[in-house]
Amino acid sequence: MSMNYTEQTPWSRKDLLDYLSSHLKESRLQHILGVAKAAKELAALYDSDGDKAEMAALYHDILKDKDKAWLVGYMRDHGEEPGEGLLAWKTLHAPAGSIFAREVCGQQDEEILRAVRYHTTGRAGMSLLEKIIFVADYIEEGRTFKGVERLRALAGSDLDKAVLASLESSITYLRKSDAHVMSQSLEAVQYYTEAIAGKDSK
Ligand SMILES: [Fe+2]
Ligand SMILES: [Fe+2]
Repeated sequence: MSMNYTEQTPWSRKDLLDYLSSHLKESRLQHILGVAKAAKELAALYDSDGDKAEMAALYHDILKDKDKAWLVGYMRDHGEEPGEGLLAWKTLHAPAGSIFAREVCGQQDEEILRAVRYHTTGRAGMSLLEKIIFVADYIEEGRTFKGVERLRALAGSDLDKAVLASLESSITYLRKSDAHVMSQSLEAVQYYTEAIAGKDSK
C-alpha cells in the first residue's frame, strides 16, 4: 500500500480495502462490504455516482472498533468538540471517521466526508449520497433485524421514506435501551416527515 501522509495522496479503493482487511475484525469488514454493495445498487437506482457511493461506504465504519476515550481524544486533537456526542459516544465513530478519512487517507471530497460524518445520526436536508449511505447501512445483506425487508422495499421505491423509517426504527431502539437520542436525528425525523407529507400532497 502506498501512503504518503505529507502530500496527502488520496487512498485508492485498493489502499482502503487493504487497510480495512488488516485493521478491522472480520464481521465488521463483512458489514462494510455489504454496505458498499448496497450503496452501489442504490446509486445506480437513483442516478448517483456509484464509485463515490462505494468509497463513502468503505470509509463509513473505519473507526467503529475504537472506544469512547480514543474517539473523544482523536476529535479534540483535530479541533472538534464532541459536544452532545459525549451523551451518545457510539455516534462518534462517524464524525471521527470523517476526520480520519480526510487527515490520514487524504480524502478531500466533501460529499464523501459528509456522508461518513452523518451516517449514524442522519441530519435534516441530507444530500443524495448521504441518504444512500445512511440507508445502505440499514439494509445491507447481512442485516437481519425485524422490519429489514420492509426497509429494503422502501429503499427501492422512495429513499426519503426509507430514511425516515430507518431513523424511526433506530430511535425506537435507543429509547427502549434508555439511550440518548441525538438532536440531529430528531431534526432529521421532523425534516423528512414534512418532506414526505409535502410530496404526498402533490
Ligand atoms: Fe457506523
Ligand atoms: Fe455501518
